[in-house]
Amino acid sequence: MTSDFKLTDSLLHRLAGARHVLVLTGAGMSAESGIPTFRDAQTGMWAKYRPEELATPEAFEANPSRVWEWYEERRRSVCQAQPHAGHVALVQLESLLPSICVVTQNVDGLHQQAGSSDVWELHGNILRSKCHVSHRPISREWLADSTHSPPRSPYVRHGLARPDVVWFGEVLPQTAIDAAMAAASRCDFCFSIGTTSMVQPAASLPLVALEAGAALVEINPHETPLSLHAEQCFRGKASDVLTSIIDQLRACKDT
Ligand code: APR
Repeated sequence: MTSDFKLTDSLLHRLAGARHVLVLTGAGMSAESGIPTFRDAQTGMWAKYRPEELATPEAFEANPSRVWEWYEERRRSVCQAQPHAGHVALVQLESLLPSICVVTQNVDGLHQQAGSSDVWELHGNILRSKCHVSHRPISREWLADSTHSPPRSPYVRHGLARPDVVWFGEVLPQTAIDAAMAAASRCDFCFSIGTTSMVQPAASLPLVALEAGAALVEINPHETPLSLHAEQCFRGKASDVLTSIIDQLRACKDT
């Protein structure tokens, strides 16, 4: 454990010389923006709700209105959330290093809102909706005009709108997973930030990076199954650790 968030000299130099950096983020990355995580005891979403009743295709088929309303509530809180200093630090990283690829399990769009330019969403985006039958995108304007909960699909008779997120048991968007795998295979430095590393295939990405010879750093207040593979683990909040790493990288580049 590192208490002052100082990268080892060797890792700082590897980061300063990195050509491709992969940043994998999970719900902990958004926690400081006020969006609850899933698996944290007490505050986590899955401590209050049962995922199989809300985040599966079967749950939606059984009770579309309940699932839609639950996501609408989350959508409203995501709309009010703002990126924090950690998101901004990842944007700043782009001006210090040649290539930063952010792969996120988060569905809130906060990396893009902060200004990160290369972001891949593995689990979709809660701000988008799609037809639950055809999976074609449905516009906010169409939804706003509807009085049904969930709104009807414009494409398929008896079809409904659903959030454009990946539910348990569903396949991830192929383009995103291909891009994430490619980024993991080519990176020379990998950060895993704010994820319990329990959901596949995201959890494997840092291991693919390691296999490819990358340095691995974890940022998470708690130990995870990935911790033992990381060269350095920072037991702190994403914003504190990332802003400190940016300062160290700037100082290193100035010398
Ligand atoms: N900074 C960094 N990490 C944090 C912070 C913080 N400020 N606060 C909490 N964490 C860590 C927790 O210690 C925990 O390890 O973030 C992690 C959040 O873990 P999960 O809630 O399991 O989120 P995640 O790993 O992203 O979940 C993966 O599971 O339910 C699905 O689809 C959902 O995308 C989600 C997936």
